[in-house]
Order: sequence, then C-alpha cells, then structure tokens
Amino acid sequence: MSDKVLLIGNGAREHAIAKKIVENGGALYSYMSRENPGIADLSKKFRIGKLDDFTKLKKYRNVDYAIVGPENPLSEGITNYLEDKLKIPTCGPRKEVAKIESSKIFTRYLLDAYDIPGNIPYTICRSIDDLEDAIHEFGLEIVIKPDGLTGGKGVRVHGDHFTCFKGVRDYAKQLLAQDTEFLVEEKIKGKEFSLQVFTDGKSITPMPLVRDYKRAYNGEKGPNTGSMGSYSLPSHDLPFLSEKDIQSAIGILGKTINALKKETGTDYKGILYGQFMKTNGKIHVIEFNVRFGDPEAINVLKLLKTDFNLIAQQIIDGTLGRTEFSNQATVCTYLVPKGYPTDPKENRPIKVDTNMNADLYYASVFREKKEIKTTKSRAIAIIETGSNLEEAKQKINDNITKIKGDLFYRNDIGVLL
Ligand code: AMP
Ligand code: GLY
Repeated sequence: MSDKVLLIGNGAREHAIAKKIVENGGALYSYMSRENPGIADLSKKFRIGKLDDFTKLKKYRNVDYAIVGPENPLSEGITNYLEDKLKIPTCGPRKEVAKIESSKIFTRYLLDAYDIPGNIPYTICRSIDDLEDAIHEFGLEIVIKPDGLTGGKGVRVHGDHFTCFKGVRDYAKQLLAQDTEFLVEEKIKGKEFSLQVFTDGKSITPMPLVRDYKRAYNGEKGPNTGSMGSYSLPSHDLPFLSEKDIQSAIGILGKTINALKKETGTDYKGILYGQFMKTNGKIHVIEFNVRFGDPEAINVLKLLKTDFNLIAQQIIDGTLGRTEFSNQATVCTYLVPKGYPTDPKENRPIKVDTNMNADLYYASVFREKKEIKTTKSRAIAIIETGSNLEEAKQKINDNITKIKGDLFYRNDIGVLL
C-alpha cells in the first residue's frame, strides 16, 4: 500500500516535493496557505489554512509521515506539534534546532562556541551606541541582519541598501523601535553557493551543489529577489570551487548538526541548507536554512534517483542511507511578473502552451475559472536537464517563450557562471 504523506506549504519548492512524493508512489495530502494549482492537482485531498494554525492538522492524523516545506512553521514548532500532539512522524527539524535559521545571532554564537570554521566577524547590537562601536571596528562596509525571520527582506547590505552612516542608523532605529536585536557583520565579497544535505541527526548525505542568482536582472544587477533561477553541473560541483572547498562546506554542515545536538539535546532531522560564500580562498557561512532552497529544491529533486519517500522515512527513523543523483546538468529559470520585485503586475493571466514538453512548477499564482494568474511574487519555475549546461540552457530557451503573460525572466541563468 502506498505511503500517505502530508505536505505543508505551497510554493514552487513544495510543488517539486509534491511531484517527487507522487512519482515515488506516495499518496499526497497537502495543507497550504493558498491553493497552488500544481500541488492541488497532485493531491488526494488538500486543505487551505494558515500554516501557523497547527490545530487544523488534526484532520491528518492517519498519514504515515509529514514533510514541511517552509521555514516559518518549522521555527514555530510545527514538527513538535505533529510529533508530540498528533504522533505523526515528521521530516523537518524541531523548533529547538530550527533556531539555526530563525535566529541569526544563535547561528553566529554556535559557530564560535563549537569552533566551527566559516564564521564572519560580527557584533550583536542592542543600541545605537553598539552600532557606532561596530562601525568603529568594521568601517561602513557592513551588513545589518535583524535576528529573526524576515522572509529574506530584513538584510541590508552596504552599497546595495545604504552608503552612509545616516542610512544605516535610520534602519537600526527602525529595528530598535520594534524591539529587534540585530547583527552587524563585516561585508565579505565573493561567489555564493548552496549546499543542501539530508540528515537524520547522525549522518549527512550531500546533494549536488547549486548556484542560485538572487538579483532581478541579467548580469547579477538590480534589486535582490527570492532568486531568479539556479543551475547545477553533471559533476555535482561548481566551476569556482575546489574539492577542498566542497569538503570544507560539508564539514561545516556536519559539525553544525553535532553542535546543535550538544547545545539542545535534539537530533536535527530533515534538510539542512548552507548558504556559503567563497572569499579569499576560504568558505564562509552566510546563513543556514532549515529546509530545501527555493529554487534549489527543483534542481536537486529533478536529479534524485533514490526513492524520496524512503529517504524521508530513513531521516525520521535515524537510518539514513546512501542517496543517488543522476549526472546531468540542470537549469531552472523563474518567470516573474513584470515590475517584480518593486512594482509587480498582479492578477494578470498566464498562458501555458499545453503541447510543450517542459517541467513546470507553480510558485505564487492562483487559479480562477481554469485560468492561472499572477500575484505580486514569483510565478512559475521551469527546469530542464542536459548532458551539459549548454544543452539544458538551450532547452530552456526553446520552451520558456511558450509561456505567455506579463512576465519576465533572466536569460543568463546557467550562462553567467
Ligand atoms: P541572507 O538573508 O542572510 O541570505 O542575506 C541575503 C543576502 O545578503 C545574501 O544572499 C548575501 O548576498 C548578502 N549577505 C548576507 N550576509 C553577508 C555578508 N556578511 N557579507 C556579504 N554579503 C552578505
Ligand atoms: N534560494 C534561496 C533560498 O531558498 O533561501
């Protein structure tokens, strides 16, 4: 009999997870804050509700296991609720260890306290005096990070968001007025990469490395976004990383999982995603995420050969085994509403040529009388594979123009390495 699986979340990342669960024979039951047409069509049953309203989950008592897509419910303790109150085994970290994403101060502390390499010089600020001291130490080339989750909208980087003391002080005042502690980090420069691992709290299995592109426009220009696309290589590494760099990043994730166990007494079970930057030949931790990346999940799940439902069960049982990924290149490109992210055109129809043979994932769209429409956020991700990057990219070029609407996309994903 097939596994009954509860999936929480409704973005393109969760659409990719949903597809994999069903492809591997699972019966999908989903809980979403807004109907994702792709997930809805794959589900035996779906419900809509606030993702932090855990009481709604009582309806799913008979599932075999649950998997949680986004960070917010994880940081609010959805795994604790599912496991402790409803006795539903869950693939996703408990609140105590999800803190590694929900508190940026905790992350920096943990790296220091357990001698884990990759930390960035930082100070914790609780006043404007603290900020002045930090600027005295680091200069103005800094990054400001509120302590909690901000949906990717809280980080302010010198040069992008402010260039003078007044700019940074105004933001600091705003945070302090909301009673929010913040970190000041030295701004480092280099190329960023994503490394995601499966872990049962004891061992880890790395997934192919992915490079994602956060800027809105070609050439890594324009405002930061949730990400405009991502690529991975058949060799599962990246052109600007050595084997030593990769081992260093894997080592940091392994040590972090061990440190979390020592610090909290809880095994970290689920997906841990390290966002790293290579600077002056060294690997630094930008942040940790307690979930798959979006769109990085789409790249790696496209390549995953091992049964996803089996991996999730092994994570839950503490028996994680080997995982296999096919040796192909992937290019994933997001179509976003014109004007995104500053002035996105919402409520506009999107037409997908039903004859096209492409793998699509719905992000933030809605369906009205069978028509798919945009919201203010990213709309659809398209992924292609190939024996090399050029081949995957060519397939993207061939298919992406068949998706019509008030949309735009970056055409240098997988080209600008
Ligand atoms: P985060 O929300 O922590 O992922 O930060 C958003 C973006 O800010 C990252 O993707 C980086 O590009 C940039 N960033 C964060 N911290 C630093 C840092 N210490 N130095 C340079 N850039 C940073
Ligand atoms: N790709 C960025 C993120 O998932 O946070």
